[in-house]
Amino acid sequence: MQQTVRLRVNNQDHEFAVPCDETLLETLRERLGLTSVRETCGIGICGACTVLIEGRPISSCLALTVLADGAYVTTLEGIAGPDGSLHPVQEAFVEHQAFQCSYCTPAMILSTIALLRERPNPTRQEIAQYLAGNLCRCGSYLRILAAVEAAAARMQTVRNG
Ligand code: FES
Ligand code: FES
Repeated sequence: MQQTVRLRVNNQDHEFAVPCDETLLETLRERLGLTSVRETCGIGICGACTVLIEGRPISSCLALTVLADGAYVTTLEGIAGPDGSLHPVQEAFVEHQAFQCSYCTPAMILSTIALLRERPNPTRQEIAQYLAGNLCRCGSYLRILAAVEAAAARMQTVRNG
């Protein structure tokens, strides 16, 4: 059984008929080619498939596309500036080399953006708690924490002009 769904993804509107059991992960990767959205566990444990729905992080491997009808979805492909410049969180991850293989990085960056929207100046413990659902098999956690702290400081500076 199929159902027509409308999604706004990274500022672009889409409408398609999808099977009722299609996950948002499948829709984003296979229909829209957004390969920053990654599957590892497929059961909501690793966080590699994290995307933002209405600005909040969710595991897209667990979300049915039909239930996201009408939602605004953000993936890593949608966070750069209009001129293609990196998002401040991306810049901080690059500067702090907060990755090795980078498989977990798109999801880490999206979760960090959501965190800094909720808590612009988080403590290290708050960062660790918020990102607890994003696993890094390379163990780059210390660099990731440093990058998130740097991103928070950078965004604070931008806000304060
Ligand atoms: S692939 Fe979705 S949480 Fe692991
Ligand atoms: S950098 Fe390899 S999984 Fe995180």
